[in-house]
Amino acid sequence: MSTNLTWHDHSVSDGQRAKLKGHGSALIWFTGLSGSGKSTLANALEQRLVTLGVHSFLLDGDNVRLGLNKDLSFSDHDRVENIRRIGEVGKLFVSSGTLCLSAFISPFIADREQVRQLLPQDKFIEVYVDAPLAVCESRDPKGLYAKARAGEIPHFTGIDSPYEAPETPEIHIKTDELDTPAAVDAIITYLVAQGIIN
Ligand code: PPS
Repeated sequence: MSTNLTWHDHSVSDGQRAKLKGHGSALIWFTGLSGSGKSTLANALEQRLVTLGVHSFLLDGDNVRLGLNKDLSFSDHDRVENIRRIGEVGKLFVSSGTLCLSAFISPFIADREQVRQLLPQDKFIEVYVDAPLAVCESRDPKGLYAKARAGEIPHFTGIDSPYEAPETPEIHIKTDELDTPAAVDAIITYLVAQGIIN
């Protein structure tokens, strides 16, 4: 734990940065089981935002774990630290005026709520990417469920590690009922209604 630190206020404000960008900023937090469609949806949303001239950046589970968080495992303890760090990174992107998208399983309610607390109330948007475990398992895009069932991946979310679904997410997408373009439309509609983008 570091001590003897002093926060430095900078002379350029978040408001000035937002004005330069011409749109609002927020952290759009996709949460859901492996294979629920988080990355697919976040990717498609980022593509749509680019066409709308919105500055965005996608933080994605596997990618962040291959870099910034490569020292972390999938123990409960390390998952908590994974989400804490991503929350802090997301907060920096939001301050920069960017619409930050994050796609992590983020299985624990308490961790997601801690990230929410880092930001102004309207700047944390939780998107529950919801698909039943059986559906995720049948998709098994990376073959990980098969390995987990065979006992080759310990602590696999939904198998022998818990997933706590959001109780009141800002947006709830059932990916076994809604296709990706329609899900993107729903999120864009929400962002426009909130005045974050035009
Ligand atoms: S967490 O729980 O939020 O810390 O996980 P996250 O950083 O999103 O990483 C999830 C991706 O890691 C791969 N993977 C595992 N997932 C769950 N449990 C275990 N044990 C595990 N081991 C590796 C997997 O590719 C996850 O990606 P997605 O895109 O969710 O399938």
